[in-house]
Amino acid sequence: MEVITIQSTIKEEQYKELIPQVLSLLETESDVVANMSNIAASLKQTFSYYSWVGFYLLKNNELVLGPFQGKVACSRIQIGKGVCGTAVKKKETIIVPNVEQFPGHIYCDSNSKSEIVVPIKYNNSIAGVLDVDSDEYDSFNEIDKFYLEKLITLTTEKIISLNEKN
Ligand code: SME
Repeated sequence: MEVITIQSTIKEEQYKELIPQVLSLLETESDVVANMSNIAASLKQTFSYYSWVGFYLLKNNELVLGPFQGKVACSRIQIGKGVCGTAVKKKETIIVPNVEQFPGHIYCDSNSKSEIVVPIKYNNSIAGVLDVDSDEYDSFNEIDKFYLEKLITLTTEKIISLNEKN
């Protein structure tokens, strides 16, 4: 129990330090691909328990792979399918402690054990998701949810293209 508390405190401190750094990195850049790439890289290099982190963007009613860090991944995911498509359908963040127990989970990497997917909300619609995988079970909790949602909310205008703003 104590170990979990210490890990959560360290995790929270890392997010608190990272978010202002990311905001300053994006401040003078308007290109959405550059910005998504730097968000993915910043997260991957900060958190050792992230095995894959990246964006899927909603295009013509399906999710299409965007900038990411990690192994090769599925290019397209249908709305309502997998964790990513379910997060879009429900318009809410989904934490999956054990991917084997999530019906319809899409394996891009057979080593993936747990996952969190945060929708990118804009004007009551969804522009895409931020997806994070871990090679260990139960890697994500309410701290990841709180700070990843905060990061996405604060950077939405910097990561969605004009044609995706509706
Ligand atoms: N596991 C995801 C698919 C994307 S990869 O994890 C990068 C899902 O079930 O939607």
